Amino acid sequence: MAQWTSAVGAAQLARLLTSQQERPAGPGTRRPPAYRALADGIRVLVLEGRVPVAARLPAERELALSLSVSRTTVAAAYEALRTEGFLESRRGAGSWTAVPAGNPLPARGLEPLPPDALGSLIDLGCAALPAPEPWLTRAVQGALEELPPYAHTHGDYPAGLPALRTMLAERYTARGIPTMPEQIMVTTGAMGAIDAICHLFAGRGERIAVESPSYANILQLMREAGARLVPVAMAEGLDGWDLDRWRQVLRDAAPRLAYVVADFHNPTGALAGEDQRRRLVDAVRSAGTVLVVDETMSELHLDPELDVAAMPRPVCGFDPAGSTVITVGSASKAFWAGMRIGWVRAAPDVIRSLVAARAYADLGTPVLEQLAVNWLMSTGGWEEAVGIRRGQARENRDALVAAVRRELPGWEFEVPRGGLTLWVRTGGLSGSRLAEAGERVGVRVPSGPRFGVDGAFEGYVRLPFTVGGAVADEAAVRLAAAARLVETGAGGGTETPRTFVA
Ligand SMILES: Cc1ncc(COP(=O)(O)O)c(C=O)c1O
Repeated sequence: MAQWTSAVGAAQLARLLTSQQERPAGPGTRRPPAYRALADGIRVLVLEGRVPVAARLPAERELALSLSVSRTTVAAAYEALRTEGFLESRRGAGSWTAVPAGNPLPARGLEPLPPDALGSLIDLGCAALPAPEPWLTRAVQGALEELPPYAHTHGDYPAGLPALRTMLAERYTARGIPTMPEQIMVTTGAMGAIDAICHLFAGRGERIAVESPSYANILQLMREAGARLVPVAMAEGLDGWDLDRWRQVLRDAAPRLAYVVADFHNPTGALAGEDQRRRLVDAVRSAGTVLVVDETMSELHLDPELDVAAMPRPVCGFDPAGSTVITVGSASKAFWAGMRIGWVRAAPDVIRSLVAARAYADLGTPVLEQLAVNWLMSTGGWEEAVGIRRGQARENRDALVAAVRRELPGWEFEVPRGGLTLWVRTGGLSGSRLAEAGERVGVRVPSGPRFGVDGAFEGYVRLPFTVGGAVADEAAVRLAAAARLVETGAGGGTETPRTFVA
Protein backbone atom coordinates (compact mmCIF):
# COMPACT_ATOMS: atom_id res chain seq x y z
CA MET A 1 0.00 0.00 0.00
CA ALA A 2 1.26 3.52 -0.78
CA GLN A 3 2.44 5.54 2.22
CA TRP A 4 0.81 8.75 1.10
CA THR A 5 -2.65 10.07 1.95
CA SER A 6 -2.92 13.00 -0.47
CA ALA A 7 -1.09 14.30 -3.51
CA VAL A 8 0.19 17.69 -4.56
CA GLY A 9 0.30 18.34 -8.29
CA ALA A 10 3.25 19.91 -10.12
CA ALA A 11 1.39 23.11 -10.99
CA GLN A 12 0.06 23.47 -7.44
CA LEU A 13 3.50 22.94 -5.90
CA ALA A 14 5.02 25.43 -8.33
CA ARG A 15 2.37 27.99 -7.31
CA LEU A 16 3.04 27.43 -3.61
CA LEU A 17 6.80 27.76 -4.12
CA THR A 18 6.37 30.96 -6.11
CA SER A 19 4.10 32.60 -3.52
CA GLN A 20 6.65 31.71 -0.88
CA GLN A 21 9.46 33.38 -2.83
CA GLU A 22 7.40 36.56 -2.88
CA ARG A 23 7.87 36.87 0.87
CA PRO A 24 10.74 39.17 1.84
CA ALA A 25 13.98 37.28 2.53
CA GLY A 26 15.62 37.75 5.92
CA PRO A 27 18.46 40.27 6.33
CA GLY A 28 21.80 39.18 4.91
CA THR A 29 20.30 36.20 3.07
CA ARG A 30 22.66 34.79 0.39
CA ARG A 31 21.24 33.08 -2.66
CA PRO A 32 21.74 29.28 -2.32
CA PRO A 33 22.22 26.88 -5.27
CA ALA A 34 19.00 26.14 -7.17
CA TYR A 35 18.55 22.60 -5.83
CA ARG A 36 19.08 23.82 -2.24
CA ALA A 37 16.57 26.66 -2.68
CA LEU A 38 14.03 24.18 -4.03
CA ALA A 39 14.64 21.70 -1.18
CA ASP A 40 14.37 24.51 1.40
CA GLY A 41 11.20 25.79 -0.23
CA ILE A 42 9.53 22.38 -0.04
CA ARG A 43 10.77 21.83 3.52
CA VAL A 44 9.27 25.15 4.67
CA LEU A 45 5.98 24.35 2.93
CA VAL A 46 5.86 21.08 4.89
CA LEU A 47 6.83 22.71 8.19
CA GLU A 48 4.24 25.43 7.67
CA GLY A 49 1.59 22.85 6.88
CA ARG A 50 0.95 24.24 3.42
CA VAL A 51 1.96 20.91 1.93
CA PRO A 52 0.70 18.16 4.23
CA VAL A 53 2.91 15.44 5.63
CA ALA A 54 2.42 12.18 3.70
CA ALA A 55 1.50 14.08 0.53
CA ARG A 56 2.80 12.53 -2.67
CA LEU A 57 5.04 14.95 -4.57
CA PRO A 58 4.99 15.18 -8.35
CA ALA A 59 7.42 13.14 -10.42
CA GLU A 60 10.78 14.86 -10.97
CA ARG A 61 10.18 15.43 -14.67
CA GLU A 62 6.75 17.04 -14.11
CA LEU A 63 7.98 19.39 -11.40
CA ALA A 64 11.03 20.34 -13.51
CA LEU A 65 8.67 21.31 -16.34
CA SER A 66 6.36 23.35 -14.08
CA LEU A 67 9.27 25.20 -12.49
CA SER A 68 11.30 25.58 -15.70
CA VAL A 69 14.38 24.07 -14.08
CA SER A 70 16.40 21.01 -15.06
CA ARG A 71 15.38 17.56 -13.94
CA THR A 72 18.80 17.26 -12.27
CA THR A 73 17.92 20.20 -10.00
CA VAL A 74 14.68 18.53 -8.89
CA ALA A 75 16.42 15.17 -8.43
CA ALA A 76 19.12 16.81 -6.26
CA ALA A 77 16.48 18.67 -4.22
CA TYR A 78 14.51 15.46 -3.64
CA GLU A 79 17.72 13.66 -2.67
CA ALA A 80 18.58 16.43 -0.16
CA LEU A 81 15.07 16.22 1.31
CA ARG A 82 15.38 12.45 1.58
CA THR A 83 18.70 12.77 3.41
CA GLU A 84 17.18 15.29 5.82
CA GLY A 85 14.14 13.13 6.51
CA PHE A 86 11.59 15.37 4.78
CA LEU A 87 10.89 12.94 1.93
CA GLU A 88 10.40 9.21 1.68
CA SER A 89 10.29 7.28 -1.56
CA ARG A 90 9.57 3.79 -2.73
CA ARG A 91 9.96 2.44 -6.21
CA GLY A 92 6.57 2.26 -7.84
CA ALA A 93 4.83 4.30 -5.11
CA GLY A 94 6.60 7.63 -5.72
CA SER A 95 7.86 10.13 -3.12
CA TRP A 96 5.88 11.61 -0.27
CA THR A 97 6.58 14.28 2.32
CA ALA A 98 7.62 13.41 5.87
CA VAL A 99 8.96 15.01 9.03
CA PRO A 100 12.30 13.69 10.35
CA ALA A 101 12.00 11.25 13.25
CA GLY A 102 14.10 13.38 15.63
CA ASN A 103 12.21 16.57 14.82
CA PRO A 104 11.29 18.08 18.19
CA LEU A 105 7.83 18.99 17.05
CA PRO A 106 5.25 18.01 19.60
CA ALA A 107 2.17 16.16 18.42
CA ARG A 108 0.11 16.84 21.47
CA GLY A 109 -2.70 19.04 22.68
CA LEU A 110 -2.83 21.94 25.10
CA GLU A 111 -2.85 21.22 28.79
CA PRO A 112 -4.72 23.95 30.71
CA LEU A 113 -2.87 25.05 33.85
CA PRO A 114 -5.14 25.31 36.90
CA PRO A 115 -5.63 29.05 37.64
CA ASP A 116 -4.02 28.70 41.08
CA ALA A 117 -0.82 27.31 39.51
CA LEU A 118 -0.21 30.38 37.36
CA GLY A 119 1.47 32.72 39.84
CA SER A 120 2.85 35.69 37.91
CA LEU A 121 2.79 33.79 34.61
CA ILE A 122 0.63 35.33 31.88
CA ASP A 123 -1.29 32.41 30.44
CA LEU A 124 -1.84 32.57 26.70
CA GLY A 125 -2.25 28.80 26.57
CA CYS A 126 -6.00 28.60 26.89
CA ALA A 127 -8.55 30.36 24.64
CA ALA A 128 -11.32 30.73 27.23
CA LEU A 129 -12.58 33.77 29.15
CA PRO A 130 -13.91 34.20 32.70
CA ALA A 131 -17.69 33.91 33.17
CA PRO A 132 -19.72 36.93 32.05
CA GLU A 133 -21.11 37.80 35.46
CA PRO A 134 -23.70 38.41 36.84
CA TRP A 135 -25.14 35.89 34.37
CA LEU A 136 -23.42 32.80 35.75
CA THR A 137 -24.74 33.48 39.25
CA ARG A 138 -28.22 34.30 37.94
CA ALA A 139 -28.29 31.18 35.77
CA VAL A 140 -27.29 28.92 38.66
CA GLN A 141 -29.91 30.54 40.90
CA GLY A 142 -32.53 30.07 38.17
CA ALA A 143 -31.43 26.44 37.77
CA LEU A 144 -31.71 25.79 41.52
CA GLU A 145 -35.31 27.00 41.46
CA GLU A 146 -36.09 24.56 38.64
CA LEU A 147 -34.26 21.63 40.19
CA PRO A 148 -36.89 20.12 42.60
CA PRO A 149 -38.89 18.08 40.02
CA TYR A 150 -35.64 16.54 38.75
CA ALA A 151 -34.50 15.66 42.27
CA HIS A 152 -37.27 12.99 42.30
CA THR A 153 -35.76 11.20 39.27
CA HIS A 154 -32.61 9.06 39.02
CA GLY A 155 -30.98 12.00 37.20
CA ASP A 156 -29.45 10.13 34.22
CA TYR A 157 -30.45 11.75 30.93
CA PRO A 158 -28.11 10.25 28.32
CA ALA A 159 -29.64 12.36 25.51
CA GLY A 160 -29.87 15.47 27.69
CA LEU A 161 -32.72 17.11 29.57
CA PRO A 162 -35.82 17.20 27.35
CA ALA A 163 -36.27 20.92 28.09
CA LEU A 164 -32.75 21.78 26.89
CA ARG A 165 -33.00 19.53 23.83
CA THR A 166 -36.22 21.32 22.87
CA MET A 167 -34.63 24.71 23.48
CA LEU A 168 -31.57 23.91 21.34
CA ALA A 169 -33.79 22.52 18.57
CA GLU A 170 -35.85 25.72 18.61
CA ARG A 171 -32.70 27.82 18.36
CA TYR A 172 -31.57 25.94 15.21
CA THR A 173 -35.05 26.32 13.77
CA ALA A 174 -34.91 30.06 14.46
CA ARG A 175 -31.61 30.16 12.53
CA GLY A 176 -33.44 28.73 9.52
CA ILE A 177 -32.49 25.08 10.14
CA PRO A 178 -35.68 23.17 11.05
CA THR A 179 -34.73 20.85 13.90
CA MET A 180 -36.60 18.45 16.19
CA PRO A 181 -35.55 17.67 19.77
CA GLU A 182 -34.84 14.07 18.60
CA GLN A 183 -31.99 15.54 16.56
CA ILE A 184 -30.21 16.92 19.62
CA MET A 185 -28.01 15.27 22.23
CA VAL A 186 -26.52 17.30 25.09
CA THR A 187 -22.89 16.42 25.78
CA THR A 188 -20.06 17.24 28.16
CA GLY A 189 -18.67 20.13 26.15
CA ALA A 190 -17.83 20.05 22.46
CA MET A 191 -14.97 17.72 23.39
CA GLY A 192 -17.48 15.17 24.70
CA ALA A 193 -19.51 15.55 21.51
CA ILE A 194 -16.56 14.99 19.18
CA ASP A 195 -15.23 12.14 21.28
CA ALA A 196 -18.60 10.38 20.97
CA ILE A 197 -18.77 11.03 17.21
CA CYS A 198 -15.22 9.73 16.66
CA HIS A 199 -15.97 6.57 18.58
CA LEU A 200 -19.15 5.96 16.63
CA PHE A 201 -17.82 6.70 13.15
CA ALA A 202 -14.05 6.46 13.08
CA GLY A 203 -12.61 3.32 14.58
CA ARG A 204 -8.89 2.59 14.93
CA GLY A 205 -6.99 3.22 11.70
CA GLU A 206 -9.87 5.13 10.10
CA ARG A 207 -9.00 8.37 8.27
CA ILE A 208 -10.25 11.77 9.36
CA ALA A 209 -9.60 14.81 7.15
CA VAL A 210 -8.79 17.88 9.23
CA GLU A 211 -7.92 21.46 8.52
CA SER A 212 -4.23 22.15 8.87
CA PRO A 213 -3.82 23.94 11.25
CA SER A 214 -6.69 22.93 13.52
CA TYR A 215 -7.66 22.98 17.19
CA ALA A 216 -4.89 21.12 19.03
CA ASN A 217 -6.99 19.16 21.50
CA ILE A 218 -9.41 17.80 18.94
CA LEU A 219 -6.45 16.64 16.83
CA GLN A 220 -5.03 14.92 19.91
CA LEU A 221 -8.43 13.42 20.79
CA MET A 222 -8.59 11.92 17.29
CA ARG A 223 -5.03 10.59 17.51
CA GLU A 224 -5.84 8.98 20.85
CA ALA A 225 -8.92 7.39 19.28
CA GLY A 226 -6.52 5.73 16.83
CA ALA A 227 -7.57 7.75 13.79
CA ARG A 228 -5.19 8.61 10.96
CA LEU A 229 -5.31 12.33 10.42
CA VAL A 230 -5.29 13.59 6.85
CA PRO A 231 -4.39 17.28 6.86
CA VAL A 232 -5.90 19.70 4.37
CA ALA A 233 -3.84 22.87 4.28
CA MET A 234 -5.73 26.09 5.00
CA ALA A 235 -5.14 28.85 2.45
CA GLU A 236 -3.01 31.73 3.70
CA GLY A 237 -4.55 34.67 5.53
CA LEU A 238 -8.23 34.50 6.31
CA ASP A 239 -9.29 32.79 3.06
CA GLY A 240 -9.34 29.48 4.85
CA TRP A 241 -10.83 26.67 2.83
CA ASP A 242 -9.40 25.93 -0.60
CA LEU A 243 -12.17 23.78 -2.01
CA ASP A 244 -10.12 22.39 -4.91
CA ARG A 245 -7.68 21.09 -2.33
CA TRP A 246 -10.49 19.67 -0.17
CA ARG A 247 -12.04 17.93 -3.14
CA GLN A 248 -8.72 16.40 -4.10
CA VAL A 249 -7.89 15.15 -0.57
CA LEU A 250 -11.38 13.76 -0.08
CA ARG A 251 -11.12 11.93 -3.38
CA ASP A 252 -7.58 10.61 -2.77
CA ALA A 253 -7.91 9.64 0.89
CA ALA A 254 -11.66 8.80 1.07
CA PRO A 255 -11.75 9.61 4.82
CA ARG A 256 -14.60 8.36 6.99
CA LEU A 257 -14.96 11.76 8.70
CA ALA A 258 -13.93 15.34 8.01
CA TYR A 259 -13.73 17.88 10.83
CA VAL A 260 -13.97 21.64 10.27
CA VAL A 261 -14.41 24.82 12.31
CA ALA A 262 -16.11 27.00 9.72
CA ASP A 263 -16.97 29.87 12.10
CA PHE A 264 -13.88 31.70 13.37
CA HIS A 265 -11.60 28.76 12.95
CA ASN A 266 -9.25 27.91 15.79
CA PRO A 267 -6.43 28.95 15.45
CA THR A 268 -6.59 31.15 12.29
CA GLY A 269 -9.90 32.94 13.00
CA ALA A 270 -11.05 32.41 9.38
CA LEU A 271 -14.79 32.47 8.62
CA ALA A 272 -16.06 30.31 5.74
CA GLY A 273 -18.27 32.07 3.21
CA GLU A 274 -21.51 30.53 2.00
CA ASP A 275 -19.97 29.42 -1.27
CA GLN A 276 -17.19 27.62 0.58
CA ARG A 277 -19.77 25.95 2.82
CA ARG A 278 -21.90 24.81 -0.10
CA ARG A 279 -18.90 23.44 -2.01
CA LEU A 280 -17.55 21.69 1.08
CA VAL A 281 -20.84 19.90 1.69
CA ASP A 282 -20.99 18.91 -2.02
CA ALA A 283 -17.41 17.59 -1.85
CA VAL A 284 -17.92 15.49 1.28
CA ARG A 285 -21.20 14.16 -0.04
CA SER A 286 -19.54 12.99 -3.27
CA ALA A 287 -16.72 11.36 -1.30
CA GLY A 288 -19.13 9.55 1.04
CA THR A 289 -17.51 11.30 4.02
CA VAL A 290 -19.41 12.50 7.09
CA LEU A 291 -18.66 16.16 7.85
CA VAL A 292 -18.40 17.21 11.49
CA VAL A 293 -18.82 20.96 11.85
CA ASP A 294 -17.66 22.46 15.14
CA GLU A 295 -19.66 25.64 15.87
CA THR A 296 -17.99 26.29 19.24
CA MET A 297 -16.90 29.79 18.15
CA SER A 298 -19.93 30.67 16.03
CA GLU A 299 -21.49 33.25 18.34
CA LEU A 300 -18.24 35.16 18.78
CA HIS A 301 -18.61 37.55 15.86
CA LEU A 302 -16.73 40.58 17.06
CA ASP A 303 -16.98 43.12 14.25
CA PRO A 304 -19.99 45.43 14.66
CA GLU A 305 -21.08 45.00 11.03
CA LEU A 306 -20.95 41.20 11.38
CA ASP A 307 -24.07 40.68 13.47
CA VAL A 308 -26.20 37.54 13.62
CA ALA A 309 -28.07 38.50 10.45
CA ALA A 310 -24.82 39.02 8.50
CA MET A 311 -23.30 35.67 9.50
CA PRO A 312 -23.20 32.99 6.80
CA ARG A 313 -25.83 30.25 6.93
CA PRO A 314 -24.77 27.30 9.15
CA VAL A 315 -23.02 24.55 7.21
CA CYS A 316 -25.82 22.08 8.02
CA GLY A 317 -28.14 24.45 6.12
CA PHE A 318 -26.49 23.17 2.93
CA ASP A 319 -27.40 19.59 3.82
CA PRO A 320 -31.21 19.64 3.88
CA ALA A 321 -31.45 15.84 3.85
CA GLY A 322 -29.37 15.83 7.04
CA SER A 323 -27.36 12.78 6.06
CA THR A 324 -23.93 14.38 5.53
CA VAL A 325 -23.35 16.98 8.23
CA ILE A 326 -23.15 16.57 12.01
CA THR A 327 -23.04 19.85 13.91
CA VAL A 328 -21.40 20.32 17.29
CA GLY A 329 -22.13 23.28 19.55
CA SER A 330 -20.90 24.44 22.95
CA ALA A 331 -21.57 26.93 25.71
CA SER A 332 -17.83 27.12 26.48
CA LYS A 333 -16.78 30.07 24.34
CA ALA A 334 -20.07 31.94 24.10
CA PHE A 335 -20.73 31.68 27.84
CA TRP A 336 -18.31 29.81 30.14
CA ALA A 337 -16.09 26.73 29.71
CA GLY A 338 -16.72 25.78 33.34
CA MET A 339 -20.30 24.77 32.46
CA ARG A 340 -19.02 21.87 30.33
CA ILE A 341 -22.17 21.95 28.22
CA GLY A 342 -22.00 21.01 24.55
CA TRP A 343 -24.36 19.39 22.09
CA VAL A 344 -24.69 17.50 18.82
CA ARG A 345 -27.26 18.14 16.09
CA ALA A 346 -27.60 15.21 13.70
CA ALA A 347 -30.14 12.90 12.08
CA PRO A 348 -32.34 11.14 14.70
CA ASP A 349 -30.78 7.72 13.99
CA VAL A 350 -27.27 9.11 14.55
CA ILE A 351 -28.42 10.68 17.82
CA ARG A 352 -29.95 7.35 18.89
CA SER A 353 -26.65 5.55 18.25
CA LEU A 354 -24.66 8.21 20.11
CA VAL A 355 -27.06 8.04 23.05
CA ALA A 356 -26.92 4.24 23.15
CA ALA A 357 -23.11 4.31 23.23
CA ARG A 358 -23.14 6.81 26.06
CA ALA A 359 -24.09 4.16 28.60
CA TYR A 360 -20.46 3.03 28.41
CA ALA A 361 -18.93 6.51 28.41
CA ASP A 362 -20.01 9.31 30.78
CA LEU A 363 -23.74 8.34 31.09
CA GLY A 364 -24.92 11.93 30.86
CA THR A 365 -24.29 15.62 31.52
CA PRO A 366 -24.92 17.19 34.96
CA VAL A 367 -28.54 18.24 35.37
CA LEU A 368 -27.90 21.53 37.19
CA GLU A 369 -25.65 22.90 34.44
CA GLN A 370 -28.16 21.89 31.77
CA LEU A 371 -30.88 23.71 33.69
CA ALA A 372 -28.64 26.77 33.97
CA VAL A 373 -28.05 26.93 30.20
CA ASN A 374 -31.75 26.32 29.58
CA TRP A 375 -32.61 29.11 32.02
CA LEU A 376 -30.28 31.51 30.20
CA MET A 377 -31.66 30.61 26.79
CA SER A 378 -35.29 30.85 27.86
CA THR A 379 -34.99 34.19 29.70
CA GLY A 380 -32.91 36.14 27.16
CA GLY A 381 -29.99 36.06 29.60
CA TRP A 382 -27.98 34.11 27.04
CA GLU A 383 -28.03 36.99 24.54
CA GLU A 384 -27.06 39.48 27.27
CA ALA A 385 -24.23 37.25 28.47
CA VAL A 386 -22.92 36.57 24.96
CA GLY A 387 -23.05 40.33 24.34
CA ILE A 388 -20.77 40.87 27.36
CA ARG A 389 -18.52 38.06 26.18
CA ARG A 390 -18.20 39.61 22.70
CA GLY A 391 -17.35 42.97 24.24
CA GLN A 392 -14.55 41.41 26.35
CA ALA A 393 -13.14 39.45 23.43
CA ARG A 394 -13.24 42.49 21.11
CA GLU A 395 -11.42 44.71 23.60
CA ASN A 396 -8.83 42.02 24.27
CA ARG A 397 -8.32 41.39 20.56
CA ASP A 398 -7.74 45.06 19.84
CA ALA A 399 -5.39 45.48 22.81
CA LEU A 400 -3.38 42.39 21.93
CA VAL A 401 -3.12 43.34 18.25
CA ALA A 402 -1.84 46.83 19.14
CA ALA A 403 0.64 45.50 21.71
CA VAL A 404 2.07 42.79 19.42
CA ARG A 405 2.39 45.24 16.53
CA ARG A 406 4.26 47.65 18.80
CA GLU A 407 6.60 45.16 20.49
CA LEU A 408 7.09 42.66 17.66
CA PRO A 409 6.78 44.55 14.38
CA GLY A 410 8.29 41.65 12.41
CA TRP A 411 5.54 39.22 13.43
CA GLU A 412 2.75 38.83 10.90
CA PHE A 413 -0.93 38.03 11.33
CA GLU A 414 -4.38 38.82 10.01
CA VAL A 415 -6.91 40.31 12.42
CA PRO A 416 -9.89 37.93 12.48
CA ARG A 417 -13.47 39.21 12.58
CA GLY A 418 -14.37 36.89 15.42
CA GLY A 419 -13.39 33.95 17.56
CA LEU A 420 -10.75 34.01 20.24
CA THR A 421 -7.40 33.50 18.54
CA LEU A 422 -4.65 35.25 16.62
CA TRP A 423 -2.45 32.99 14.48
CA VAL A 424 0.93 34.62 14.31
CA ARG A 425 3.88 34.00 12.02
CA THR A 426 6.96 34.66 14.13
CA GLY A 427 9.33 36.12 11.54
CA GLY A 428 11.20 32.84 11.04
CA LEU A 429 11.75 32.12 14.75
CA SER A 430 10.97 28.65 16.02
CA GLY A 431 7.59 28.61 17.79
CA SER A 432 8.75 25.69 19.95
CA ARG A 433 11.80 27.66 21.13
CA LEU A 434 9.61 30.70 21.75
CA ALA A 435 7.31 28.60 23.92
CA GLU A 436 10.28 27.38 25.94
CA ALA A 437 11.78 30.85 26.28
CA GLY A 438 8.33 32.25 27.16
CA GLU A 439 8.13 30.00 30.23
CA ARG A 440 11.42 31.55 31.41
CA VAL A 441 10.24 35.15 31.02
CA GLY A 442 6.73 34.63 32.40
CA VAL A 443 4.45 34.08 29.43
CA ARG A 444 2.90 30.75 28.48
CA VAL A 445 2.27 30.49 24.76
CA PRO A 446 1.51 27.42 22.65
CA SER A 447 3.78 26.79 19.67
CA GLY A 448 2.40 26.33 16.17
CA PRO A 449 3.19 22.61 15.80
CA ARG A 450 0.57 21.77 18.42
CA PHE A 451 -2.03 22.87 15.88
CA GLY A 452 -0.53 20.89 13.04
CA VAL A 453 -0.51 17.29 12.03
CA ASP A 454 2.93 15.69 12.19
CA GLY A 455 5.03 18.70 12.98
CA ALA A 456 3.85 21.48 10.69
CA PHE A 457 3.76 25.18 11.71
CA GLU A 458 7.11 25.51 13.45
CA GLY A 459 7.15 29.21 12.54
CA TYR A 460 3.91 30.12 14.36
CA VAL A 461 2.43 30.73 17.79
CA ARG A 462 -1.22 31.12 18.77
CA LEU A 463 -2.26 34.08 20.90
CA PRO A 464 -5.77 34.00 22.44
CA PHE A 465 -7.92 37.05 23.24
CA THR A 466 -7.88 36.28 26.92
CA VAL A 467 -5.89 39.27 28.16
CA GLY A 468 -6.48 42.96 27.59
CA GLY A 469 -5.30 46.38 28.72
CA ALA A 470 -2.02 46.48 30.65
CA VAL A 471 -1.81 42.67 30.78
CA ALA A 472 -1.89 42.49 26.98
CA ASP A 473 0.90 45.10 26.88
CA GLU A 474 2.96 43.12 29.39
CA ALA A 475 2.30 39.85 27.51
CA ALA A 476 3.70 41.40 24.32
CA VAL A 477 6.73 42.79 26.21
CA ARG A 478 7.43 39.29 27.57
CA LEU A 479 6.95 37.71 24.14
CA ALA A 480 9.48 40.20 22.74
CA ALA A 481 11.90 39.23 25.55
CA ALA A 482 11.35 35.55 24.67
CA ALA A 483 12.03 36.35 21.00
CA ARG A 484 15.32 38.05 21.98
CA LEU A 485 16.33 34.98 23.98
CA VAL A 486 15.65 32.75 21.00
CA GLU A 487 17.49 35.10 18.60
CA THR A 488 20.57 35.18 20.81
CA GLY A 489 20.53 31.43 21.31
CA ALA A 490 19.80 31.67 25.05
CA GLY A 491 16.21 30.60 24.74
CA GLY A 492 16.05 27.06 26.00
CA GLY A 493 17.80 23.81 26.55
CA THR A 494 16.43 21.60 23.78
CA GLU A 495 17.78 20.69 20.40
CA THR A 496 15.08 22.66 18.57
CA PRO A 497 16.67 24.89 15.91
CA ARG A 498 16.31 28.64 16.64
CA THR A 499 14.96 29.40 13.24
CA PHE A 500 13.03 27.02 11.11
CA VAL A 501 14.03 28.54 7.78
CA ALA A 502 17.54 27.69 6.61
C1 LIG B 1 -12.90 24.77 18.01
C2 LIG B 1 -13.05 24.25 19.39
N1 LIG B 1 -13.77 23.15 19.62
C3 LIG B 1 -13.94 22.66 20.85
C4 LIG B 1 -13.36 23.25 21.94
C5 LIG B 1 -13.59 22.66 23.29
O1 LIG B 1 -14.88 22.97 23.65
P1 LIG B 1 -15.57 22.51 25.02
O2 LIG B 1 -14.97 23.34 26.12
O3 LIG B 1 -17.01 22.79 24.81
O4 LIG B 1 -15.29 21.06 25.20
C6 LIG B 1 -12.59 24.39 21.77
C7 LIG B 1 -11.93 25.03 22.91
O5 LIG B 1 -11.01 25.82 22.74
C8 LIG B 1 -12.44 24.90 20.46
O6 LIG B 1 -11.73 26.00 20.23
